[in-house]
Amino acid sequence: MPKFSVLFVCLGNICRSPTAEGIFKHKLAQTELNELIFVDSAGTSAHHVGESPDQRAQEEAKKAGYDLSFIRSRQVRDVDFHEFDLLVAMDESNYYNLLDAVPEPEYQQKIKLFLADYAPDLPKREVPDPYYGGAQGFVEVIQLIEAASDGLIEELRRIHRG
Ligand code: 4NP
Repeated sequence: MPKFSVLFVCLGNICRSPTAEGIFKHKLAQTELNELIFVDSAGTSAHHVGESPDQRAQEEAKKAGYDLSFIRSRQVRDVDFHEFDLLVAMDESNYYNLLDAVPEPEYQQKIKLFLADYAPDLPKREVPDPYYGGAQGFVEVIQLIEAASDGLIEELRRIHRG
């Protein structure tokens, strides 16, 4: 039974947050925390519900050694704020969308901004939306997510150690 859970959140749940889910699960599988953490992803919009990750996201992830093909887009639900320990937004717009949507004020503290909170030394605070750009945007998304995933794993180790 997982003791801790993380939900990655972007707008459509077809580019950034599924990339984060795939990369984070891959990295977690190489750590002692693997059985202890449940990982999922969702979008604040319902626009792409049921879809597989964007082909460009899947292709660039595959080149970097990550499989995203098992993921299907879903929208954030009210119950996610109860069930997940951390809701990790890819950008500020989705961060504030989540803060606006919290059903109980006590859950505000579960909401994080991925780069700012877990990779504060990076020059960016947000994972840029790659949807309307070219392949290079998807490569950058992967690099930023890899860096912040390492920071989040370190944070989960601290939490787990108590
Ligand atoms: P994501 O990217 O939020 O990283 O999944 C987007 C996907 C779809 C759209 C925008 C961003 N869209 O406008 O449909």
